[in-house]
Formats: sequence, C-alpha cells, structure tokens
Amino acid sequence: MLGRLNHVAIAVPDLTAAAAVYRDTLGARVSAPQPLPEHGVTVVFIDLGNTKVELLEPLGENSPIAGFLERNPAGGMHHICYEVDDILAARDRLLAEGARVLGDGEPKIGAHGKPVLFLHPKDFFGTLVELEEV
Ligand code: CO
Repeated sequence: MLGRLNHVAIAVPDLTAAAAVYRDTLGARVSAPQPLPEHGVTVVFIDLGNTKVELLEPLGENSPIAGFLERNPAGGMHHICYEVDDILAARDRLLAEGARVLGDGEPKIGAHGKPVLFLHPKDFFGTLVELEEV
C-alpha cells in the first residue's frame, strides 16, 4: 500500500526566514511561498530530487499548525507524507485495521493538487502521517 516518501513537513514561525536559511545556508532550491487558505497555512517547497521538504507557516485565525507552534515556538517536524496509489482503498484498509483518520475521513485536495488524508499520530508512533494519492 505504502509508496514513496513524498515530503517531510516542518512547521516554522517565520516562513521568509526559514526559506532564506534553506536557500542561502543550505543551498537548496526553494519555491515561492504559496498561500493555501483552505488549509490554514502558507507553504514553501524545497525540491531535493528524491523527495521534498515543505515549510509551513500559519495562515489565518484557525490554522491547524497554530497549536503545534505554541508547543514548539522555534518550529519543528510536523508530519511525514507517504504516497499511495488509491487513497480510498488505503483509508478503508487503515480503518479496518483500527487506525484513526483525522477530520471527516474524506480526502481533501492538498498542496500539490492531489487528494490527501491525515492519520492520527498516536496510531503511528507519535508521528502525524499524511497520505497523498499520486
Ligand atoms: Co504535507
């Protein structure tokens, strides 16, 4: 079921500063910031060739990463995203195995224009897991 690592996401308090560190200090290819109001975040992508890093900054009042940044004010690793061929089949298998799917259980369109779901971190060793259909 599980395919490749699509990205690792890091929540940051200041996206401009974080993007500059990746671009200037680490010498990475960094995208322009992309606001995603329906997800409550602004995103910068760092393309590493074999995978990506996503830098996330809160956007708007009820950002889903606001609480995380309160607990981790300097930023921190927020989630890991794995690719799946069929997100509905993956969801149904996970639910049958007793895993918890966050939200209403229906895939939403994620930052890459593909359907995504999030899985409860308590079911996956303290790591918030995103599944993306590719
Ligand atoms: Co993600």
